[in-house]
Amino acid sequence: MRLILAESAGFCYGVRRAIAIAEREAAQGPCFTLGPLIHNAREVGRLEKLGIRTVSAPEEAPPGSTVILRSHGTPREDVAALEKRGCRVVDATCPNVARIHGLVREAEAEGRLPVVIGEREHPEVRGICGQVERCVVLQDPAETDAWTKKREILPDMPITVVHQTTLIEKNAKKCDEILKKEYTNLKLFDTICGATSKRQMEAVQLADRCELMVVIGDRSSANTARLARLCAEHCGRVLAVQSAGELRLPDLTDVHLIGVTAGASAPAWIIKEVCNKMTEEIKSMDPIETAVEAAAEAAAEVVEEAAPQAVEAVQEAAAEAVPEEESFDEMLEKSIKTLHTGEKVSGIVQSIGATEVTVDLGTKHSGYIPMSELTDDPELKPEDIVQVGAEIETYVMRVNDVEGTVMLSKKRLDTVKNWEFIENAKEEKTVVEGLITEENKGGVVANVKGIRVFIPASQTGLPKESPMTPLVKTRQQMRITEVNHARRRVVGSIRAVQYEARKAAAEATWAEIEVGKKYLGTVKSLTSYGAFVDIGGVDGMVHVSELSWKRIRNPQEVVKVGDQIEVYVISFDKEAKKISLGYKLASENPWTLFTERYAEGSELDVKVVKLMSFGAFAEILPGVDGLIHVSQITRERRIGKPDEVLSEGQIVRVKITKISEDRKISLSMTAVEQPAPAPAAAEDEAEELVYSTDAPAAEAPAEE
Ligand code: F3S
Repeated sequence: MRLILAESAGFCYGVRRAIAIAEREAAQGPCFTLGPLIHNAREVGRLEKLGIRTVSAPEEAPPGSTVILRSHGTPREDVAALEKRGCRVVDATCPNVARIHGLVREAEAEGRLPVVIGEREHPEVRGICGQVERCVVLQDPAETDAWTKKREILPDMPITVVHQTTLIEKNAKKCDEILKKEYTNLKLFDTICGATSKRQMEAVQLADRCELMVVIGDRSSANTARLARLCAEHCGRVLAVQSAGELRLPDLTDVHLIGVTAGASAPAWIIKEVCNKMTEEIKSMDPIETAVEAAAEAAAEVVEEAAPQAVEAVQEAAAEAVPEEESFDEMLEKSIKTLHTGEKVSGIVQSIGATEVTVDLGTKHSGYIPMSELTDDPELKPEDIVQVGAEIETYVMRVNDVEGTVMLSKKRLDTVKNWEFIENAKEEKTVVEGLITEENKGGVVANVKGIRVFIPASQTGLPKESPMTPLVKTRQQMRITEVNHARRRVVGSIRAVQYEARKAAAEATWAEIEVGKKYLGTVKSLTSYGAFVDIGGVDGMVHVSELSWKRIRNPQEVVKVGDQIEVYVISFDKEAKKISLGYKLASENPWTLFTERYAEGSELDVKVVKLMSFGAFAEILPGVDGLIHVSQITRERRIGKPDEVLSEGQIVRVKITKISEDRKISLSMTAVEQPAPAPAAAEDEAEELVYSTDAPAAEAPAEE
């Protein structure tokens, strides 16, 4: 025969916490609880011996005394009454219940009607309703159905629905469904406590397997009564007992497996008493069961505070004898395990409250993470980081054995992990990404997984002396070059990543380069003789003469640093690592344009761009000039110098008299036969001529 005690049997986190708070207060002097601290008369009796007495109303509390609010929560008016009497109020409300208080208060503030699914007379429900002026309580699906049909509240009235923490989940769901159908404007919060649903689920699973279920708990405890009802739905024989004294085992002839569970207010010492008694009775029925004896002895050694799991282990050991002993030791050790600051522990998120996240560590301690220890990221909400029911790894900050609490930190553990990440990144030379958060005198600072990484100006990848501000608020890839954990100093380099990327790109460029190939490049720097353009890890040079068809004195007239331009390869030398690039396009060659448009004999308007002693240079097209010899300027009189008649910028009518093979163009004003075109047309042509004022090569042609 085997005895199995459900893992979640006994005190829940909220009750354990409330008792720890009460014991701490009692250590300072006598104190009171408003209503019994938990639904267990024997445990309340034990607390009384420690100096913790129960008052049933605020007016019974002596003025100035310390009054503890129990885990079920307390109506606002009772708290106000206690404060009015000058009492020191110590709040031991379970954080899960406190969250519901917040939800109903928020609903009221938003003009919504709070609806509580739960037992009207249960102290928790009274405490919830006592947070607001108006509140509706619906006890079960039938009552919910009747209420919606009565139409006291119109379907378009906004309502907020919460659950008593210890409700049976399937009943709560039925009520939710009815309300969802009728009220479209509804906000629904599933506030059933994870510890409760886990306890109920385990009890059902155990009841399905066992021929007998024993449910331990006070008869005044609603959640124990519910547990017994649930077990009865799945197991033919259920014994509900408050103490070992009440235990009367039936005939166990056909019984192979006995399941034991206990309500949230059953202390470990009562569970242990009951289990010991059962062990004794089983032993008396089957004296040959030697393992029972061994286990009973072990049970006697279980410390009072040990969690129920220890008792389960004892009883399982009793039933299964020697092979289970190892598991028993492990479980016992786990249950009474002492936590240490700096330790890494895992647990299950129980609730997310306004000020803390509670974590079940599976030990006698109650774990909590203050909000400040959850994350440093102000953008994140707790729900973005943790989920109720999910496993979480944390770092132990402080252990309070008196209160039975452990302060945990997720942030610290993340920091530890992040330092490991940074150290590995340095060792393994991996590239990491971070957000540049600020600029300072020597460089910029990046945030990589919450760790500050300093990037010296020389490692930013920016040209020397250029401003670093544009980097701020950008994400950058970098290598970690130095880590000093003790001094919390980390140095990174963006340049190292860029260098490697550039090296790889350069190899690819050299492998594929060919004359005529086009690249979209970036102008990196300018000199008086040309522009250096990055075409993918390699810089090529565009000579000034290849930048424009016009005559330019400086590359700046055409491009500037940072411009993206399309260039083509004129020539390259892989050995010398030199690439000559072109920027001006053949299709825009002004000589080609000129020969397409004009021939000898054409008459046109030109702009005088330079006056020399032997004649005047005039622009025909941007980049194409012709010469009007001094003898070809006027017929009317003989002139010594062109500036006697012409001035720079003047538009004159000329005839093309000669186009030589070496691209010299002779123009004549005196040979013009046709008058200038009509003004509109002339204006159009003049517009085309507005661009160039550059002087052509000053070589005087022979006089014609
Ligand atoms: Fe216990 Fe709090 Fe849940 S008192 S049952 S942990 S709501």
